[in-house]
Amino acid sequence: MPDVRSICAIGLSGQLGLHGHLPWEGDQRPEFVADVARFFDITRGHVLIAGPKTIGAIPDFARGDRTLVVIRSHEDPEEVLSRFPDRVVYVGGGPPVWDVYARHIRHWDINRLPYDGPADRWFDPKWLVAG
Ligand SMILES: NC(=O)c1ccc[n+]([C@@H]2O[C@H](COP(=O)([O-])OP(=O)(O)OC[C@H]3O[C@@H](n4cnc5c(N)ncnc54)[C@H](OP(=O)(O)O)[C@@H]3O)[C@@H](O)[C@H]2O)c1
Repeated sequence: MPDVRSICAIGLSGQLGLHGHLPWEGDQRPEFVADVARFFDITRGHVLIAGPKTIGAIPDFARGDRTLVVIRSHEDPEEVLSRFPDRVVYVGGGPPVWDVYARHIRHWDINRLPYDGPADRWFDPKWLVAG
């Protein structure tokens, strides 16, 4: 099996998404700009598996230097992960994906950003201890 990891950014209460985007999208404060840069640095050269909306939001400039894979709910997680035996695989969400793949993730990288506004997608701490 690959080295299965996850990377995400959350607001102060666990906010993950709003209307299909990051809740803080467009915020130019240094923490937010650095978070996006860090996401691309950490996933560079690796596999990023995620649901269709999350993969669809990756900008064109970032598509060349990582392997992006849209995963679907009818696919078997073990089979998906077994396609990348010698790679580092980042599980990129959204929440229904983490519900299913959390038990395979051994390293979480969570950046907590100073955002305190609304969201319609939330981080669930149970993912960290999913067995
Ligand atoms: N803050 C962050 O770090 C972060 C990270 C990721 C996403 N987000 C935010 O989250 C939102 C997007 O997430 P989303 O959940 O709405 O959409 P999504 O990224 O498309 O992920 C959910 C979809 O993944 C598919 N899927 C693939 N494998 C699955 C499985 N084994 N079990 C269940 N579903 C599976 C399902 O679609 P099918 O049933 O059609 O296959 C499901 O509806 C956006 O607002 C985005 O900005 C934030």
